[in-house]
Amino acid sequence: MKKKVMVFGSFVVDLMARTPHLPVAGETVIGSLFKMGPGGKGFNQGVAAHKAGADVTMVTKLGKDLFAEVALDAMKTLEMDTSSLFYSEEIETGSALIMVDEETSENKIVVVLGACSAIGDKEVESISEIIEESGYLLTQLETNISAVEKVIDIAKKNGVKVILNTAPVQPISDVILKKVDIITPNEVEAEILTGICIDSQESASKAADWFFDKGVKNVLITLGSRGVFIASESKQEIIPAYKVKAIDTTGAGDAFNGGLVAALADGKDLWEAARFANALAAIAVQRLGTTPAMPTRKEIEEFISNN
Ligand code: RIB
Ligand code: NA
Repeated sequence: MKKKVMVFGSFVVDLMARTPHLPVAGETVIGSLFKMGPGGKGFNQGVAAHKAGADVTMVTKLGKDLFAEVALDAMKTLEMDTSSLFYSEEIETGSALIMVDEETSENKIVVVLGACSAIGDKEVESISEIIEESGYLLTQLETNISAVEKVIDIAKKNGVKVILNTAPVQPISDVILKKVDIITPNEVEAEILTGICIDSQESASKAADWFFDKGVKNVLITLGSRGVFIASESKQEIIPAYKVKAIDTTGAGDAFNGGLVAALADGKDLWEAARFANALAAIAVQRLGTTPAMPTRKEIEEFISNN
């Protein structure tokens, strides 16, 4: 039976410009395209999981402003439940300034978290029943860490499987790591967290050992266009990425994480789930934007059967 998923994390409005090259300090570049839309790692992951077929409760915090409407409109259109959202009277909804190089598809991002940097303990407590009913919790490091810590703690105490995506990277306490069932850093984040430069399967394996020593059960290190390294106590493997032409890699990690949790909640094992997640990432990088780039279940299935 399909398990419920809670995605706890950030919502911000993405203000994205495509540019012939990324400006250096002091330089003004004339861009070629501007798009505004829903984003934030938490929201991207929640929408990815929802569109992939998961039963998702999305939890984030908005301001009382125009940008909040961007989240609410998107959720309404996607038929997602909006009853577990928090609102701040004082702090505005978050936003992200994203520049994408149209040649290389590389990006630079500044994210201002706004309301989702101030999720209080009481707010987290108010959703504890929904956490308890979930099979999986997926969260990141783009809200205040005190809230991440609290939500993981409630999940763990109730036997809910915890997936932690370590983006944007910042120090994580051993107390949190001990409660994580699946950690999903990218290679840069894995290096910053473990101090091990990930340049081979051997070094990825060493980084995995570092996480195992902290009590993490499974380690998935995403390797961009090279795929994903997966390690559990019993086996390790690199699952290659699908070969596609990327036009915008922003949110690729979010597509992966959303796909991963959706597949796990569907009863797939970690290896199958990672393959499914690779498909979401491959589709998302061929589309502009973040939340709007997430594929439907049907698109994912078609992609997998054609590739
Ligand atoms: O992972 C991509 C996301 O990171 C963007 O949607 C942007 O909001 C930033 O937070
Ligand atoms: Na994209």
